[in-house]
Amino acid sequence: MHADVLVVGTGIAGLSYAVRLAESSPKVKICMISKRDLLESNTKYAQGGIAVVSNFFLDSYEDHVQDTMKASGNTSNKTVVDFVVREGPARVKELMAWGAQFDTKGSKLHLGKEGGHSAKRIVHHKDQSGLQIQNALIAKARSLQNITFFENHSLVDLITDHHIPNTKQGRCYGAYVISKRDEEIVKITAQLTVLSTGGAGQVYAHTTNPTAATGDGLGAAYRAKVHIENLHFVQFHPTALFPKIDGNTFLISEAIRGAGAVLRNFKGEAFMTQYDTRKDLAPRDIVSRAIHSEMKKSNQAHVYLDATHIDIKILEQEFPTILTNCHKAGIDIIKDFIPVLPAAHYICGGIDVDEHGQSNLQGLYAIGECSHTGLHGANRLASNSLLEALVFASRAAKHSAVKLADEILSTSFFERIPNWSGTEDISNQKTVQIHELRASLQRIMSAHVGIVKSGESLQKAEEELHKVYVATKELYQQNKLTPQLTTLRNLVSVAYLMIKQSQKYPQNKGVYFNEDYV
Ligand code: SIN
Repeated sequence: MHADVLVVGTGIAGLSYAVRLAESSPKVKICMISKRDLLESNTKYAQGGIAVVSNFFLDSYEDHVQDTMKASGNTSNKTVVDFVVREGPARVKELMAWGAQFDTKGSKLHLGKEGGHSAKRIVHHKDQSGLQIQNALIAKARSLQNITFFENHSLVDLITDHHIPNTKQGRCYGAYVISKRDEEIVKITAQLTVLSTGGAGQVYAHTTNPTAATGDGLGAAYRAKVHIENLHFVQFHPTALFPKIDGNTFLISEAIRGAGAVLRNFKGEAFMTQYDTRKDLAPRDIVSRAIHSEMKKSNQAHVYLDATHIDIKILEQEFPTILTNCHKAGIDIIKDFIPVLPAAHYICGGIDVDEHGQSNLQGLYAIGECSHTGLHGANRLASNSLLEALVFASRAAKHSAVKLADEILSTSFFERIPNWSGTEDISNQKTVQIHELRASLQRIMSAHVGIVKSGESLQKAEEELHKVYVATKELYQQNKLTPQLTTLRNLVSVAYLMIKQSQKYPQNKGVYFNEDYV
């Protein structure tokens, strides 16, 4: 298969990139790969919304910039923060023109508040903002003739010089992908490749991310020697529902704390007053560490979130998903406290990119959560991720249009790229082994590379992960590739990078906390 542009990942970043490029350049053929169906992505589960300045009487670009810098402990790249914040309103307008609907109050957008924000500025659709955006973008993308979709295909490897005899251009030429149904490996060549593969929360046992969030883009980029930065900055969301529902950890949006919900320990104390003057709406790193400390003190696996004093009409109108999911777990949030614990939520680092989303490998862009733009620094401000995805997708799409007009590789060159070659079939027993290895990796990361780390815990994690790595390598060398095996390989690479980058980081900043440095 050949496309002008191959986009791997169909969340807000990949879809908005494809829509913008397809509309501005109708002759450009875009191929989109989705690991599950088109809807399933981290975006779908985003509850809060998009942080964007829209009420210029009560808010300003300067305040949003300052809040972002403050949440990151002044480690964000100020230039990037500045242009993302200022370009945000136009991107949200565009998204609305493409069909996304957000809650309104009178003629204005209804704005929510989240931790670390000095003003109400979260544009949202109830507590289903991501789902609303995802559905609108899918409908828009499907209406464009020059975008084709391959659902249920996972990324195996990026195609680089290494795959092509006598080639040294330092470029990316597309990717090998594997189909879920018949486990066939397909070669998709492309002038430009865009990674928008989202997060990697699945390296942890408790994560708000869906099961497909396994860092596939990061793993493939690492093998292609692309620069990856700041993977030690893993953001834990303070409030995920305890216990899991159907094996998944459900997010309790920060917006509910914005509406007045209060964290309580087992004694019923509203403990955040002891940790930060902003109390329950302090930035996430502070709230997560406070919960971690309360859980340790009480020797319990969770704390509580109390929403019982919030007007029932507000709960029903603004938080229907939270109401329903808590109900499924037997919790009536109108009367009961919600048991919550922090869970891996967002990776602030990723594939290092410039202001157009370009990586150091020519022809390869990265946008959305898998990228490292400099916006988040050591700690992402709540609801800045969808904003970043929209702004960088738009910039990358504009840049791609220029690139495609300027630099084209010939058809005969692409014909030289070999197909993937595989070996024998995998047995059922090996499939069980893959599941076990994935579970061990998650246990290692949660036990030793969580909210609070130490030199000793990181060393332990490295040693234990090495065993998983050796077993995975053996499986990889001796068996036909399957989607489960490629996924495990990516999880191992991401976990390894997280541990190595954590070991090198010399101070406590943002979400990175090493008790040896206290
Ligand atoms: C939330 O709704 O609390 C999540 C929003 C985000 O992660 O930015």
